[in-house]
Amino acid sequence: MSQDNQAQLTPFQIVSELDKYIIGQKDAKRSVAIALRNRWRRMNADEELRNEIIPNNIMLIGPTGVGKTEIARRLARLSRAPFVKVEASKFTEVGYVGRDVESMIRDLVEIGISMVKIEMQERVSEKAAEAVEKRLLDILIPPIKSVHGGTPTGFNSSDDVDLNEKTRAKFLEKLKAGDLEDRKVEIEVSDKKPSVQVLGPQGMEDFGMNIQDMLGNMVPKKTKKRTMSITEARKVLLGEESERLIDHDSAIQEALSRVQNNGIVFIDEVDKIATSSANGKGGPDVSRQGVQRDLLPIVEGSNVSTKYGMVKTDHILFIASGAFHMAKPSDLIPELQGRFPIRVEMQSLTEDDFYQILSKPKTALTKQYQALFKADGVTIDFTDEAIREIAHLAAQVNDEVENIGARRLHTILSSLLEELMFSIPDDIKETAITIDKSYVNKQLDGLVKNRDLSHFIL
Ligand SMILES: Nc1ncnc2c1ncn2[C@@H]1O[C@H](COP(=O)(O)OP(=O)(O)O)[C@@H](O)[C@H]1O
Ligand SMILES: [Mg+2]
Repeated sequence: MSQDNQAQLTPFQIVSELDKYIIGQKDAKRSVAIALRNRWRRMNADEELRNEIIPNNIMLIGPTGVGKTEIARRLARLSRAPFVKVEASKFTEVGYVGRDVESMIRDLVEIGISMVKIEMQERVSEKAAEAVEKRLLDILIPPIKSVHGGTPTGFNSSDDVDLNEKTRAKFLEKLKAGDLEDRKVEIEVSDKKPSVQVLGPQGMEDFGMNIQDMLGNMVPKKTKKRTMSITEARKVLLGEESERLIDHDSAIQEALSRVQNNGIVFIDEVDKIATSSANGKGGPDVSRQGVQRDLLPIVEGSNVSTKYGMVKTDHILFIASGAFHMAKPSDLIPELQGRFPIRVEMQSLTEDDFYQILSKPKTALTKQYQALFKADGVTIDFTDEAIREIAHLAAQVNDEVENIGARRLHTILSSLLEELMFSIPDDIKETAITIDKSYVNKQLDGLVKNRDLSHFIL
C-alpha cells in the first residue's frame, strides 16, 4: 500500500497536501515534493541506470522555527514513510564513546516496525475485539462441559450445561451492549517490570544482538493477576489479542522493505558538524569530520546491520537541515556536499505568515487550544483582530529579543491563555469566551514591553 500510495502522489499533490499544514516556504515544499517523486521515478528506472542516479537528498538551510522539521515530518506522514529525526551533533565518530551514525538506521527500522505493527493490528482489530469478548465471557461465566466438569460429582447434567449456555449467551449480549463495563474482573497480565536493567557494552547492537532480548527469552515470562473494570480489561486484552493475531515475521519483512524504499531520515543541525572556516584547525574539528566521513557511506548507500537483518540505505531519503550561521554548506567535506545536491533556503517568517500560521492550518495552535478548552465545555473564540495582534506581538518579540520563528507563537499563546487555563472551570464559569484585541493587550503588553520579562517568559 505504502509504495503505491507514494507513487500516486504527484509533486503538485504533495505540495498541496503540505500547504494544509505549512505556511509559505514554497521553494522547500517544491524541492521535497520533487525529491519524493524522484525516488519513485528512480526506482522505476532500469537497473543499470538506477544505481547511477543520485537520490535527491536535500539540505534545508534556514533559521530556527521556520518549518524545516515540520516540512520533513509532514512529508513523511503523507507518504506514510518511516521517519526519524536525528541531530548530527549528537553523533560521535566510530571507535569513540557515543552514538555512532548507523544507529539512525536502526532507529528507523524500529520506527518502521512499530508503524507496520500498528497498521496490522488495526486490520485485525475486529477479530481481536471478538476474541477479547470471548475471553471476558469465559472469565465472567466459565463454560462447563457435559462430562467431567468441575462439579463435585465429576460431571454435569445436561440441564446444567443448558443453563450455563443460556447464561453465557445472555452475558455475551450484555457485554456487547456495554452493560457490564463497570463490573470488576480478575485477569492475568504479564508482569511488565523487568527484574534487572541490562546495559550492554558499547556497540553491542552492532552485532545485531540485544542482551535484554537474549535474557528475556531465557527467563520465563511472569504473569500476575489484577482486578480491573471490564472497560480497562478490554484495553489490556485487546493489546494481547491483536499482538497474537498478527504475523511478526511478516511485519518485520514489510517494515524492512518500507524502510529501504520509503524511509526518510532527517538530520538536524548538520551545520554543527561542518568545520567552520572561521574556526581554525584542530580541536573538535577532527571528530566532526570523522562524523561526516561516517555519514558518507550511509547517505551514499550501503548496508547497515540491524538486529532484524541488513538494511540497504540506497533509496532512503536524507534531508539535512541547519541554520548555517557560522559554517557554510561548503564547509562540509566535498563528498558529503555532493550527496545533498538540492539546497533550499528557508524564508524567515513575517508577521503576516504568523497570522496565517495561527489561523489557517488544520492543526493551527488556536485550534489546538480550542480543543483543550472544549474538554471543559468551554468554547473559545479568537477575533480576527486578536489573531493579528498576537502575530504582531510575536514578530515584535522576535525582533527585539531573539528570532525563534514560529516557535514564538507557542510561548506567546501559552502566556496569553495562562489565566484562562488556570481559572477554568473553578473560577471562570462562562462557557463561551471571546478573545479580542483588548484581551490580548491586557494579557501580553506588560510582558512584551518589559525586555527582561519577555526574555524569560515569552
Ligand atoms: N511555515 C510554517 N507554517 C506553519 N507552522 C510552522 C511554520 N514554521 C514553523 N512552524 C511551527 O513552528 C514550530 C517549529 O517549527 P520547526 O519546523 O520545528 O522549526 P525548524 O525550522 O527549527 O525545524 C512547529 O510547531 C511548527 O509547526
Ligand atoms: Mg528543527
